[in-house]
Amino acid sequence: MGVSALGYVTLEVSDMDAWLKIATNVLGMQTTRRPDGAVDLRIDDFHHRFTLYPSATDRLHSLGWEMASPEDLLALVEKLRGLGFTVDEMDAATRADRKVISGYRFHEPLLNAETELFFGPLAHNLAFVPTRGISGYNTRGLGLGHVVFHVADTDATVAFYRDVLGFSLSDYIGWDGIEAIFLHCNPRHHTLAIMNCFNGIQPGALNHIMIEALSYDDVGYAYDIVRDSGVPLFMEMGKHSNDHMQSFYIRTPSGFCIEYGYGGRLIGPDWEVRNYDQPMLFGHRMVG
Ligand SMILES: [Fe+2]
Repeated sequence: MGVSALGYVTLEVSDMDAWLKIATNVLGMQTTRRPDGAVDLRIDDFHHRFTLYPSATDRLHSLGWEMASPEDLLALVEKLRGLGFTVDEMDAATRADRKVISGYRFHEPLLNAETELFFGPLAHNLAFVPTRGISGYNTRGLGLGHVVFHVADTDATVAFYRDVLGFSLSDYIGWDGIEAIFLHCNPRHHTLAIMNCFNGIQPGALNHIMIEALSYDDVGYAYDIVRDSGVPLFMEMGKHSNDHMQSFYIRTPSGFCIEYGYGGRLIGPDWEVRNYDQPMLFGHRMVG
C-alpha cells in the first residue's frame, strides 16, 4: 500500500514575521514557538501540520507523507531501496521534531524534494484554537491539503508517484502551453499535482500548497482581510474546473502561493478520469 495522505510540510523561511502574520491573521493557524526559533503551525488535531525554520533563504525543507500502518511504511521503504534510493531511518531527534512514531527520509529528484515517509503522528487532546474566528480545516481522512510542483519530466514524475508511492490519476488540465496532472491518495480530489515548466520556472519549484476551510465564510472573511491588509493576492476568488474548489491564492514571503479554499469534491469508487482545457469554471483572475 502506498502513501495515505500528505501529513506535514516543513519550510525554511527568511521572513518569519511576515509568515506568521499570514499564518495567524489570514489563515487563523495556531502557533507554537520552539526554543530554537522554529515555529509549528497547527490547523487540526495534529500537533502541527507545518514547521517554519528560520533561515537566510527560503526553501522547502521536507514533505511528510503519511503511511497508514508500520507494515505499509516498511514495505514502501524496501520498494524504494530496491529501486536504488538511499532511504535513511529518522533519528530520534528528527522523530521528536516531526512528532511521529517512526519515519524514513530520502531525496526525491523529480520534485527535488527531501521526502519523508512516516507513521503515527502525535495528536492533540485539546481542541484546535484558531487565532481568529474560523470554523477550522477539512483534513479528517484527507490530509493537510495538496501540493503542486513544476517538474522537468511530467511523465516520469506521474509514473513514479503512481507506480512507487501508490497515487492514482484524478484528471488532467491543459491550457496555454501549461500541462497539469492531478493525483490522489485518498478521497481528496488531489493531494499532489504536477505541472510542466514554463516562463523560466525551474524544475522542482513549489507552485502552491492548498489548505481547505470547513466553511466558505472562512474563505470569504480571509479574502477581505487579504485585500484590506495588503497581503499579496496572486489569484482572485474563483472555482476550479476539476476539483470544484472555491478559492483564492496569496503569494507567501517564500515566493510560492497558498491556495485557501472550500468545497473541493471528493473522489469515490465511481470516479472517471477527465481532461479539461481550462483550470477554472469562473474567477481565479491573475492579479497584476
Ligand atoms: Fe490547488
